Amino acid sequence: MSNTAANNLDAFWMPFTANRQFKSNPRMLVGAKDMHYTNAEGGKVLDGTAGLWCVNAGHGRQRITDAVSQQMAEMDYAPAFQMGHPKVFELAARLTAMLPNGLDHVFFTNSGSEAVDTALKIALAYHRARGDGARTRLIGRERGYHGVGFGGISVGGIVTNRKNFGTLLAGVDHMPHTHLPEKNAFSKGIPEYGAELADELERIVTLHDASTIAAVIVEPVAGSTGVILPPKGYLERLRKICDKHGILLIFDEVITGFGRLGAGFATDYFGVEPDMITMAKGLTSGTIPMGGVVCSKNIYDTFMGAPENTIEFFHGYTYSGHPVAAAAALATLDCYKDEGLFERANDLSGYWEDGLHSLKDCPNVIDLRNLGLIGAIELESIPGKPTARAFEAFLKCYEKGVLIRTTGDIIALSPPLIIEKTHIDQIFETIRTVLNEIA
Ligand SMILES: Cc1ncc(COP(=O)(O)O)c(C=O)c1O
Repeated sequence: MSNTAANNLDAFWMPFTANRQFKSNPRMLVGAKDMHYTNAEGGKVLDGTAGLWCVNAGHGRQRITDAVSQQMAEMDYAPAFQMGHPKVFELAARLTAMLPNGLDHVFFTNSGSEAVDTALKIALAYHRARGDGARTRLIGRERGYHGVGFGGISVGGIVTNRKNFGTLLAGVDHMPHTHLPEKNAFSKGIPEYGAELADELERIVTLHDASTIAAVIVEPVAGSTGVILPPKGYLERLRKICDKHGILLIFDEVITGFGRLGAGFATDYFGVEPDMITMAKGLTSGTIPMGGVVCSKNIYDTFMGAPENTIEFFHGYTYSGHPVAAAAALATLDCYKDEGLFERANDLSGYWEDGLHSLKDCPNVIDLRNLGLIGAIELESIPGKPTARAFEAFLKCYEKGVLIRTTGDIIALSPPLIIEKTHIDQIFETIRTVLNEIA
């Protein structure tokens, strides 16, 4: 049988992709360096999305490549259970040193989805270990995205990710999302209105009783659902309500972690400390799959109350803390630190905000939202054809050499933190041209 391009494309079932549409007109990336991809046609494509919100240190970083190849040569793999290797301990210590005091222990996974499911399991097992095992309910939020495991889609709030997969986890409830365009449209940075939406947690507590609720999970800034920001004071209020009722608060920082907001983590940016943080993506700058859950000393110590020769938490992955991923993560943290990339993101955030909001008068723009190096451009949907307008913008931007990302009719932007002002100009000028063209 001939090995035609069509046959080659057919076998791979692509994730979160319109497979037939893609395969009829593929967009193939074959190289990447710093801020750019190279496509199969030899064109340069400016990366406005850090891959998928992950390549925070930029592409093709020699330091990370060297660390990975050295680790592969030195030791390719070590069993994750009942054995250890030095780099994963070093990485856990480095990560906890970056986080507020009290967030002191890391459980490693291979993705954000696994980090979320791990955090939910830690929450349930923690309450049980405290003798409070009736706390089994998990509370998420409408429009939340927490990956695609059964735990993550259960607490998540995106209907297309949930509706085909049966009854999901039992005992899950959802708070309302915080997107209030009628009050907050075109806000710069954190929106003013909506902190009272946190009080919906009180309503849920009244309905189910606090004694049945284990944890609340939220993205401090929701990314994949189209960039939804927390209103001023909202996260503080959630923290207070959780404290009042003995409920654990989990921040899903898979997107907000590692400098995206111009601070190490959203917990630093907002000054609100959760009991657990889930992370992935920027942990290795997208180079090698790795995720993790950072949890409080109190949670860890509760598990350590078991007799010393017992496994305290029956959970883990073959590749938890994989040596090559750990090497990639350590080199990535070195890039962030030595190049001051989190501060750089903060320094550029004003220029980024100005560039984004210069699109206010473009055709069909109904909202603009930004924080740190995140931006969203919400477009009016074409009647009867939701998602079509933004997808056309995506295709046209790609033709013009800029990679953007769309969710529904929202364009979401999250460039590598090494971005220069000229790149910011190019991103917004290209989008402006495209929005005018497709009007
Ligand atoms: C907030 C959040 N949580 C979890 C995930 C899932 O991560 P992964 O795709 O690595 O499983 C994502 C991915 O975009 C995310 O944005």
